Amino acid sequence: MMNRIRKSLPGLLVAMTLPFSAPAAAEEPQYPPSAKRAVSFEEDIEPIFRENCTKCHARGKAEGGFRIDVRDLVLIGSDSGIVVETGNSEKSYLTHVISGVDPSTKMPPQGEPLSDEQVGLIRAWIDQGLPWPTGITLGRFKEAEVKPREVIVPAAKAIHSDNPIDHLLVSYFQKNEIDFPDIVDDRRFARRAYLDSIGLLPPPDELKTFLEDDSSDKRTRLVEDLLSRDQAYAEHWITFWNDILRNDFTGTGYIDGGRKQITHWLYESLRKNKPYNQFVCELVDPVTGSEGFIKGIIWRGVTNSSQTPAMQAAQNIGQVFMGINLKCASCHDSFISNWTLEDSYALAGVFSDEALEIHRCDTGTGEHAPIKFLYEELGTIDATLPKAEREEELAHILTDEQNGRFARTIVNRLWARLLGHGLIEPNDEMDREPWDQDILDWLAQDLVDHDYDLRRTLKNILSSKAYQLPSTSWDGQNDEEFIFQGPVVKRMTAEQFRDALCALTDYWPGDLGTDLKIANVIDGETKTRSWMLKRDPFTVAMGRPNRDQINSQRSPYATTLQALELTNGSTLADLLKQGAGRLVSDHGESPEELIHYLFFYGLGREPEQEEVTLISEMMGESLSSESVEDILWGIAMLPEFQLIY
Ligand code: HEC
Ligand code: HEC
Repeated sequence: MMNRIRKSLPGLLVAMTLPFSAPAAAEEPQYPPSAKRAVSFEEDIEPIFRENCTKCHARGKAEGGFRIDVRDLVLIGSDSGIVVETGNSEKSYLTHVISGVDPSTKMPPQGEPLSDEQVGLIRAWIDQGLPWPTGITLGRFKEAEVKPREVIVPAAKAIHSDNPIDHLLVSYFQKNEIDFPDIVDDRRFARRAYLDSIGLLPPPDELKTFLEDDSSDKRTRLVEDLLSRDQAYAEHWITFWNDILRNDFTGTGYIDGGRKQITHWLYESLRKNKPYNQFVCELVDPVTGSEGFIKGIIWRGVTNSSQTPAMQAAQNIGQVFMGINLKCASCHDSFISNWTLEDSYALAGVFSDEALEIHRCDTGTGEHAPIKFLYEELGTIDATLPKAEREEELAHILTDEQNGRFARTIVNRLWARLLGHGLIEPNDEMDREPWDQDILDWLAQDLVDHDYDLRRTLKNILSSKAYQLPSTSWDGQNDEEFIFQGPVVKRMTAEQFRDALCALTDYWPGDLGTDLKIANVIDGETKTRSWMLKRDPFTVAMGRPNRDQINSQRSPYATTLQALELTNGSTLADLLKQGAGRLVSDHGESPEELIHYLFFYGLGREPEQEEVTLISEMMGESLSSESVEDILWGIAMLPEFQLIY
């Protein structure tokens, strides 16, 4: 038989013998060969089982009687008997099912089969005696460490940078055999830095000054300058927080008082750069103006017990501040994490005046969960205290320095916002592996060590070489395979896009959604930035979310709706029409000057000679509103304008 021939003959002979063994091969199925190296259970095998098998064969699931939680259960086998013969993968039934040679027994039964390489690894694992380090169980989901971790930053002399992120990145690039790329030029850097820190395009005079400056630290100084513009900073980042804290100006709950805005409190907190731990304490244990967050939304009509305000508070706190999904554990124990129904009720209990009865899939169980925080090692909450004091205890436990998840979750969100892809993705799932644990842990610890100063974290990132690398693209398909090589190209948000057009034309109209009175000082004149407006079809099409739910990441993709609204909608058309009129009256004297102005402001560059000729021909001798409107359309529709690259 094939098996024996293969075992008894050296490789060369096998090759020569193979063709003559064809009939035997048809009877005895050919499996992909066993991998020729020592396998590691944690690195090679565990991920395959977790990805492909545990949902039917672990954590209480035992299809066919086979369980894969721990080594002993694998050895016990299935309803039909033993499935592995330790040391002999060729004879092990497990090899047979995973290689899928027989469609009626293939595992997994549906979907993508294991690759030959994966089968080879599992075979090698069996051949090597089923190594399985003690303490590992597939019966629980992987959980990230809660504690903070000190990172020793290596001195990487090869790159000219004093930013620890870059030194850690050198190690990461070495591991992944990537040469440290050259950083982008000044124009591109400036455009990114302005849009990412204050949400506006660099104004022509400022850009010119920056380009002409030839000091070596000018990029860091620019970042510091931008981050010190309190109002512009607050008006940009408030959009990010409004999405995450689901703060909107109109929508479900506002008419009957079942919801409350936190806009004033939020704007002031950002403007004053309130330390992040205090910021979160005030959301969890509210002060005047911040109550809206834990108040949640009182939905009209009949709602499920998983949507009570107390349960919403637990879900939102878990997701926003810790990257934990309690939503899937608020009707039944979670199927995608270790969180149980009881855990969710234990946290929700903090926000409830009466003891909460646990409801399993909306049916009361008669049981009550003792009030506690998700990680008991961080501290306890005294259930006998009144609600307000329980909230205070929770706020302190959540923001405790020993809660490493708290700092990691926010620095990861900021990284994702600036570089287009988080250290961990999706950034609501903080139990996933980061692409670099050291950078994540260093940023988190640096935040804690510096009084939770978020602008410092932003400065760390914006002034790093990592941020200044040429952009890359990412299809977002399999985040586990992501390899960092530079920022991922982003689309401007609805607010950035609209603000950019308003700034270009100096025309800032809009229907205010907040009664916040800000004397906006872009040029001493009141300008209504887009974040302040009510949702309208244009901003919705450009990705402004419905903030009834938490929105931690806007879609980076253009949609058909967006294309339709851009080309046919009246809001943008009107903005450009009015804006063109304004431009003509401001720059009426010289068409050429206007072309230069629009290119330099809109795109951060001078127009090519060809572009000038083309546009001048189109415009004729004197400026008309119509022709300027056409140029504005042309610029607004360019990917070069719409993308942050
Ligand atoms: C979608 C659910 C599902 C997934 C995923 C799945 N299995 Fe199964 N598995 C089953 C079912 C159903 C049976 C019982 C089949 C039967 O009895 O005919 C089974 C049976 C088995 C058996 C016992 C076969 C026997 O005849 O005794 C083994 C071994 C097995 N699976 C291994 C795996 C491995 C390894 C993976 C991952 C590579 C996997 N399964 C993925 C559903 C699944
Ligand atoms: C509003 C209540 C509710 C929420 C929230 C909820 N589920 Fe469920 N889920 C149910 C009900 C009801 C069932 C059916 C339970 C049963 O038959 O025992 C169910 C069943 C399931 C099952 C099938 C279990 C099986 O044995 O086949 C999975 C998987 C599941 N839910 C996953 C999730 C995930 C993931 C989330 C979060 C995204 C979630 N659920 C959130 C109510 C909910």
